[in-house]
Amino acid sequence: MERYALLGWPVRHSVSPQMQGAGFRALGIEATYELIEVAPPDLDACVRRLRAEGYAGWNVTVPHKEAMAERMDAVDPAARAARSVNTVLHRGGRLCGHSTDGYGLAAAIRESFGIGIPGGRFLFLGAGGAARAASVAFACQGAAEIQIANRTIGKAEDVVRIIAEVAPHCRAAAFRPDDRAALAAAMARAQCLVQATSLGLHPGEPMPCDPACLPGTLAVMDMVYGGTPFLAAAARRGCPTADGRGMLLHQGVRSFEIWTGRPAPVAAMRRGLEEALEERRRRQAVEAAGDKHA
Ligand code: ATR
Repeated sequence: MERYALLGWPVRHSVSPQMQGAGFRALGIEATYELIEVAPPDLDACVRRLRAEGYAGWNVTVPHKEAMAERMDAVDPAARAARSVNTVLHRGGRLCGHSTDGYGLAAAIRESFGIGIPGGRFLFLGAGGAARAASVAFACQGAAEIQIANRTIGKAEDVVRIIAEVAPHCRAAAFRPDDRAALAAAMARAQCLVQATSLGLHPGEPMPCDPACLPGTLAVMDMVYGGTPFLAAAARRGCPTADGRGMLLHQGVRSFEIWTGRPAPVAAMRRGLEEALEERRRRQAVEAAGDKHA
């Protein structure tokens, strides 16, 4: 029996066990996939334990992707450039780190909008870990232009510097999302906007930028699965839209292939993911109704 896991803090709402489990079952692979909640100070101890107990690999999510990259025996070029590891392969006593977030987002954008990365023009809202990993991966895959809007401009400028280093052919620029002139110009140039801030997960949060600036032709992908008020506003303006489930699926598909060395059963994994999201939505609706009657 092979053992896999997802390390994060928190991780209990993750639907990755159902998605990966569906993939293992479809190929007849005997494997388990656990959720492991680990606080940042406990990360080293956790990695030592997984090594000692012979876990075949694991996924990594917030807030450990950057720290995990520093604990690997080797990292692939995408993970090194982004300084982010979300997939670890444990083989022959060595830990090899990969970043499949950029691959996942690229596959989702291709599938949802028919837009390819080479030669493409992208606008990212946000410059946190998720935005950095994906935008640097896009630059490495041959994107022609990457613009990054972030409240903390220094973080966006850091990403622009990384892109200039690892992919000098890519035109990269940073600005603040409340700079309306820069925002409108960036939206007019881009083929696809990627909403990569954490805004919209909780009720009452502000929009990452003013949706009234969106041209109705701009494709909008939100990394949050289930969508956000910003994504809904983009759809109302006529933009083609997609939420984060495509990225979640395809980053998991790539992890599966890294671990097993076999083509992933994408349809089965998509079904596992959709069923788990539906189940979670139902549970949350029941909990919300319970709160109202309490
Ligand atoms: P992740 O790993 O998911 O990307 P993160 O690294 O914490 O998470 O990044 C969160 C992103 O959401 C950042 O771009 C952050 O902007 P700052 O760099 O300015 O902090 C953005 N974000 C979070 N809360 C925000 C808010 N209230 N207003 C604007 N941007 C916000």
